[in-house]
Amino acid sequence: MDVPGFALITGAASGIGQACAKAFVQEGAAGIALLDRNRESSMPDNHVRTSPLHIETYAVDVSSEQEVTRAVHQAARTFGRLDYVVNAAGIAIKHQGGAAFAETQDWQKVLDINLNGTFFVLRAAAQIMLKQDPILSSIDRRPLQRGSIVNFSSIQGIVGITLSTAYTVSKHAVIGLTRTASEDYAAQGLRVNAICPGYTETPMTTKDPAVKKAMDERIQTAVPMQRMGNPKEIADGVLYLAGGRSSFVTGSALMVDGGYTSR
Ligand SMILES: NC(=O)c1ccc[n+]([C@@H]2O[C@H](COP(=O)([O-])OP(=O)(O)OC[C@H]3O[C@@H](n4cnc5c(N)ncnc54)[C@H](O)[C@@H]3O)[C@@H](O)[C@H]2O)c1
Repeated sequence: MDVPGFALITGAASGIGQACAKAFVQEGAAGIALLDRNRESSMPDNHVRTSPLHIETYAVDVSSEQEVTRAVHQAARTFGRLDYVVNAAGIAIKHQGGAAFAETQDWQKVLDINLNGTFFVLRAAAQIMLKQDPILSSIDRRPLQRGSIVNFSSIQGIVGITLSTAYTVSKHAVIGLTRTASEDYAAQGLRVNAICPGYTETPMTTKDPAVKKAMDERIQTAVPMQRMGNPKEIADGVLYLAGGRSSFVTGSALMVDGGYTSR
């Protein structure tokens, strides 16, 4: 997937973020910085590697501007540069009764993490990426890239799903952030894209049996492939967007959703 450089991944302790960390390791990244508010981040399995790998972990709440700025700068100082950023940290909250009854604190929390957190990481990383020399592609003589940022939206960045006001708004906004930032830096070789997973089997979707049951029912009618995605299938899309194989792609929102949004 052409990811020879250094990656920073948020939400790396679980689900899709963790799958992304493993994928960067397997595809030959030089180093990965794992950011999560959960300290019990499990290290990606390193046995597949023949080349050296630098792993850094940081306990960070992405909704804290200070914590994000500190960790992003520290990772860049340690690695000497930052080539790929994956903004996977996120939460989902359902509002019983829908938008009319959504609690302000739920609304705030979701936007603080999913939207503000993504912005804080993007901003801190982009400032570093814009100052660094472009990375050499390992596949061919493609135009070089100075950095690549992949933000996590969702099928809910494109469509609305019931009882999900704050989450849907946050994921629509992440696509807006991606598009405007991609325009800002396209000419300088800094690419910004979004990935939009459909229902994917992670703790976010499986830890609550009631949510899981409702989702399993919905999947049969709403998802053309009639199944959930595996986190690895989302990580493949992330690696494509992060690395040199997507050298002419910026400002896009890649649907990895088993066909959900094609209906
Ligand atoms: N699972 C799905 O079906 C699905 C679908 C579409 C989009 N997404 C998005 O994919 C991303 C990853 O989701 P997942 O399913 O792997 O969820 P998950 O709950 O398994 O993992 C999320 C990770 O983010 C971390 N996190 C949460 N709040 C944080 C904060 N304030 N600071 C730092 N870390 C924080 C958690 O500790 C956890 O490790 C999220 O942005 C989610 O919205 C997931």
